[in-house]
Amino acid sequence: MTRILFVCLGNICRSPTAQGVFEKLITDLGQAEAFEVDSAGTHAYHVGSPPDGRATAAAARRGIDLSLQRARVVDAVDFERFGHIVAMDRSNLSNLKGMAPAGHSARLWIATEFATDLDYQEVPDPYYGGDDGFEQVLDLLEVACQGLLEHVSRR
Ligand code: 4NP
Repeated sequence: MTRILFVCLGNICRSPTAQGVFEKLITDLGQAEAFEVDSAGTHAYHVGSPPDGRATAAAARRGIDLSLQRARVVDAVDFERFGHIVAMDRSNLSNLKGMAPAGHSARLWIATEFATDLDYQEVPDPYYGGDDGFEQVLDLLEVACQGLLEHVSRR
């Protein structure tokens, strides 16, 4: 079982989208049973809330259902449970490093490390922008999730 946790700030825009994109990818390939996929935020602003309506609508247009997800915060046990923790930006990564228990087993990444053909160092936060930001997040994460799947499949 490969366990992957996607992490952003609020767990209502980028990381739920990443979870949905990755779940669709493995479901379409008939590989869903081999994975546990989840998402969480570094901050508790939106705990218990469903994803942002703009993220849900943009994902739905690509056949991806985010509606059943609910926001939660990263917990210390996540660093043992999930082998791969994939942050959306440098700030999330830095926060994760700050909260990681000493000697934890998870490997920490930024999603764009799996999309090296695209010239992005981070997945931009779409929260305060327009609808095009959510399309850009999806475009980036579709490439990054494909790259991540290839990475974990090689191991
Ligand atoms: P996310 O986006 O980290 O991609 O879920 C944000 C969600 C909420 C806030 C900022 C970013 N906020 O400031 O409440």
